Amino acid sequence: MTQVKTPVVQRLLDPDWAAGTLADDVRRGLGALPRTLPPKWLYDDHGSALFDEITRLPEYYPTERERHILQSNASAIAQQSGASTLIELGSGTSDKTRTLLDAFAATGQLERFVPVDVSEATLRRAADEISHAYPGLQVEAIVGDFTLHLGQLPTGGTRMVAFLGGTIGNLYVEERAAFLGALADSLAPGDSLLLGFDLVKDTNRLISAYDDAQGLTAEFVLNSLRVLNRELDADFDLQAFSYVPFWDPHMERMDLRVRSEMPQRVRIPGARLEIDLGSGEEIRVEISSKFRPEGIRSELAAAGFDVTGAYTDSGDDFAVVLATRTPT
Ligand code: AVJ
Repeated sequence: MTQVKTPVVQRLLDPDWAAGTLADDVRRGLGALPRTLPPKWLYDDHGSALFDEITRLPEYYPTERERHILQSNASAIAQQSGASTLIELGSGTSDKTRTLLDAFAATGQLERFVPVDVSEATLRRAADEISHAYPGLQVEAIVGDFTLHLGQLPTGGTRMVAFLGGTIGNLYVEERAAFLGALADSLAPGDSLLLGFDLVKDTNRLISAYDDAQGLTAEFVLNSLRVLNRELDADFDLQAFSYVPFWDPHMERMDLRVRSEMPQRVRIPGARLEIDLGSGEEIRVEISSKFRPEGIRSELAAAGFDVTGAYTDSGDDFAVVLATRTPT
């Protein structure tokens, strides 16, 4: 019997990090015009549970499509990557990753799994489960933020970094370039990136994916105000806001906002901020960019990655690409 290896957890974020960064983000984003909130604050416990429900909605196709793509292509991906270390950014419960881990287990090449996530509790649970499910696999979990800690990824062997779920679509164009560039800098030639992203498609399908009949997405986006009420002692009246999702055809992205339905003053003591919102004034909470294969290929090339495998579902709804770090 192969021994279960005890997971190692490295903390790159201290427990106070969230509180300080939230206040800074809110002061910067809500204090300026147009008003914005960074999407990472959508995922408190309630928000994470809501997102989990969203992924099971009939209108929200990305999760199911990506899972299917990974199931069909995991062994090709494992072989092509030649990886002995799998790093997963924003791993959460590492749910879909198991498909990859199974494929790697079949080739016997994988030595180490490195899940990276901001939520320590989720990470510890996933690390324990995975080290038991895959005896012999060394799990080295990192409590970290994938926009901040790319320079501190573990080195050694051939690495594949998985960034799945379409999360890349939440970054603005400049943030995306910075992220891909920093990732390329932290990798060596022959290491690779496995990237999952959503594709441009019929506008009505996109809108219904982000404006579901049950109203779960509306609740998910409005929950960001509840997070500010709790964490920063703000006094947002959730009844005074509505949810407005729309498709931005120029930027090719969903733009998810909350709209103030009346003139109102909101106090956010934890961020030392008070704002006056006009009737109809909007706050952008999240963008979800959709991609074209040529576009992502050239963004990857600009950062130093060469696409060596591209996988989609039969309806061309979602895509996963494997891209290798090119020699500099
Ligand atoms: C998990 C960030 C990829 O953009 O589709 C789902 C988040 N927001 N419904 C996405 C989300 C509203 C989701 N990501």
